[in-house]
Amino acid sequence: MAETAEMHYLKDYRPFDFELKSTGLDVSIHGTFVDVTARLVMERRQDGDVQAPLFLHGEDLEILGIWLDGRLLAPREFLQDGQGVTFFDVPVSFELVTKVRIFPDTNTALEGLYRAGSMLCTQCEAEGFRKITFYPDRPDVMAPFHVRIEADRSLFPVLLSNGNPVKNETLPGNRHAVCWEDPFPKPSYLFALVAGDLACQKDFFRTADGRDVQLAIYTEHENANQCEHAMVSLKKAMTWDEDVFGLSYDLDMYMIVATNDFNMGAMENKGLNIFNSKYVLARPETATDGDFEGIESVIAHEYFHNWTGNRVTVKNWFQLSLKEGLTVFRDQQFTADMQSASVKRIQDVRSLRARQFPEDAGPMAHSVRPEAYLEMNNFYTATVYDKGAELIRMIHTLTGPENFRSGMDLYFARHDGKAVTCEDFVAAMEDASGADLSLFRLWYAQAGTPVLHVTTDWDEGKGRLTLHLRQDIPDTPGQKNKKPMVIPIRTAFFSRSGEQVLLDYRGKKDKEFLLVLRSKEESFVFDGVSLPVVPSLLRGFSAPVRLRIPLNTEELAVLLAWDSDPFNRWEAGRMLVERTFRQLVEDHRAGRSMVVPEDVIAAFQAVLENADQDPALAAEILNMPSEGELYHLLAAEKIAVNPLMVHEVREFFLDALARPLKTLWERTWYACRTQGAYVFRAADVSKRRLKNLSLFWLSRFPDTGFGWVERAAEEASCMTDRMAALQLAAHFHEEGSRRMLLDFEREFAQDALVMDKWFQVQALSRRENTLARVEELMGHPLFSMKNPNKVRALIGAFASGNPFRFHRKDGAGYAFLAERVLELDGLNPQVGSRMVSILNAWKTFEEPWRSEMKKALMHIRKKEGLSSDIREVVDRALA
Ligand code: ARG
Ligand code: ZN
Repeated sequence: MAETAEMHYLKDYRPFDFELKSTGLDVSIHGTFVDVTARLVMERRQDGDVQAPLFLHGEDLEILGIWLDGRLLAPREFLQDGQGVTFFDVPVSFELVTKVRIFPDTNTALEGLYRAGSMLCTQCEAEGFRKITFYPDRPDVMAPFHVRIEADRSLFPVLLSNGNPVKNETLPGNRHAVCWEDPFPKPSYLFALVAGDLACQKDFFRTADGRDVQLAIYTEHENANQCEHAMVSLKKAMTWDEDVFGLSYDLDMYMIVATNDFNMGAMENKGLNIFNSKYVLARPETATDGDFEGIESVIAHEYFHNWTGNRVTVKNWFQLSLKEGLTVFRDQQFTADMQSASVKRIQDVRSLRARQFPEDAGPMAHSVRPEAYLEMNNFYTATVYDKGAELIRMIHTLTGPENFRSGMDLYFARHDGKAVTCEDFVAAMEDASGADLSLFRLWYAQAGTPVLHVTTDWDEGKGRLTLHLRQDIPDTPGQKNKKPMVIPIRTAFFSRSGEQVLLDYRGKKDKEFLLVLRSKEESFVFDGVSLPVVPSLLRGFSAPVRLRIPLNTEELAVLLAWDSDPFNRWEAGRMLVERTFRQLVEDHRAGRSMVVPEDVIAAFQAVLENADQDPALAAEILNMPSEGELYHLLAAEKIAVNPLMVHEVREFFLDALARPLKTLWERTWYACRTQGAYVFRAADVSKRRLKNLSLFWLSRFPDTGFGWVERAAEEASCMTDRMAALQLAAHFHEEGSRRMLLDFEREFAQDALVMDKWFQVQALSRRENTLARVEELMGHPLFSMKNPNKVRALIGAFASGNPFRFHRKDGAGYAFLAERVLELDGLNPQVGSRMVSILNAWKTFEEPWRSEMKKALMHIRKKEGLSSDIREVVDRALA
């Protein structure tokens, strides 16, 4: 661990004073240690500081020897500290060889080279390479790599690194070695190495220009039969990138390795992706529709990085969104084309609001291009990824699809093989499209979610409708008094009977307009409005803002039923629910009796009655906000959150909506039963979603609820249906619930990924004793604090997915989380930091929750030698 981590600032960026000509690595794997010899050929840059000493990063490395141009250096000839090593006197051009020893078996942080079961593997992004060898571990230093890996042949028959294999060696003592060469110069964060006894699934892909690329997915032997969906997804992604962006794969081999021990989803190392097995392994008996979707999109995401990330990479880590925002946008477009575009958009926006909006309103708020970080791993955030993708989407909207494509072409033509900035991307878009994006750039620099206020004026006599738009951008830590942003607003209008009407805007008749707000306030005037109309704004969620528009129930019902933009139909449903919820909260606080208006119920009833027209959309609309989402809604309106009250009001609302729809839900459940074998295809997925949503509503009825769940469990024939039933069963106290969980555990004890689900459903249980059960499950033989998937499934799911049971009034949930965070601090700070972030919202809660959360944060902060990951979050939360 670094002794004294320090703050890094964008304004301090300086290029490296040396050029790295080539990197040779010799990695020798032994029983309990690995020896790494690095051969770096370097040259001082003439345009740099010609006096500057050479500094190489390096952490937790035991030095075995350092040679400069072949001469062994004495310890006084360099200076080592917790961050790395400095050489004060190096020639203009030289070869530096370092030999170090590292210990992958005790590396529980899962960063650098570490043991995962029987294999060894690496994770280097962002700054993990420095735990493998001394190196200029920064993304703007790129070099071709030559890697030799040597190990015992029986324990490690498979030895992989980036690029192409160029040599095999048989060595004495049952040892062997493989050499790999990566011809594409790359930064250290894209380095990968895997050694193990692995099964390999092979296939090939023929590129548009007729080259055959070998595809290989490596897994543990027992999982060899679970790669088919991942392989199909990979080939779809390769085809799509050729079709849509004209981008083909560039090496002869594309390899994916699945491991159970991984801090995140997956990593795009050049030619050798390493994946959390959750995003590779699937078969219908063990994976849900959600798992299949996740695999398809993460496989695509990592594949797309080969161009947006690897061929063109980032100049420094402040530019992370250059590759992540763009690649998320690309994988979103891919999924929209493969599955249902409207469902994808709805789910992405829902997740943006649930994760990014609160981040943007909390203590860790940062711009899409952050200005400072203590621990880079803390900035792999919803803001950099998902808001970053929204920025790309706005550029796409503002320039139009053809110009956007030309902009991408220009971006690659200019920057292939280079490390560049967000500014370089925007400039390419601007130059290719002719659009003026100068004001738009503020989106990269200003944090906070803009609030867009809309009012309308209708002059019936003149047939003139005026939209008054105003934007407010809240202050965020370190940023005040912000400038107005460029907000693209796709707009249409509907008659009271649901027809999309043709209007006049600046002399042009159209049914949809792209309004662009560029100043604090602006009015937009439409003519030809002879009858009252309902505005449909921000269609497709055309900008990541909070929209405030006063529409009444009747108007929202028109949009809910008739809007031609499916996203805005869903959005109208949301607005209706949120308005109703706010009213109920006021009634509750004032001690009035709560009533859900008939017309609100009728509007949702109509959606259910017509569900067969678009079952996927109906399932999204009728899937009500979670308690967590309602907390955010209140917090955004500066109403302190009382978890007990939110629970009570939401339950009241759900009951009021469930009762009159009972027979409709029953009918829907029957109508959505699918016959035949499980297939992962959009039509079946949406039927299963609607069926399992029906089950959710039916499970709420006191006398018959559990019967429905049992019956659904009995006839479930795929994991999607089994999990839906099991999750609902886990809320009940019935003996049948206990039995279902036991049977499930017995059946799947051998399958780590399925057991993650088993831990998770219990962590999400609404039963009163859930905290105690979670504590008990930590002692389960299959649970381990060292495995990030298990930590997320049990502790993460409880603390962030089960707010009602986590936010206990006595603070026991917070105290529990604090202990887990302290434990993780010593084991895996990256995962610990994600867990502690759950407490970031403490200021948005009512007493006593607020003080109890703060107490937990203070307790964590007291620990001496806290990792920089956790310290950065806790310090900012308490600032
Ligand atoms: N680049 C990887 C991806 O987008 C994620 C790497 C995350 N790294 C981290 N230190 N959190 O798929
Ligand atoms: Zn990524």
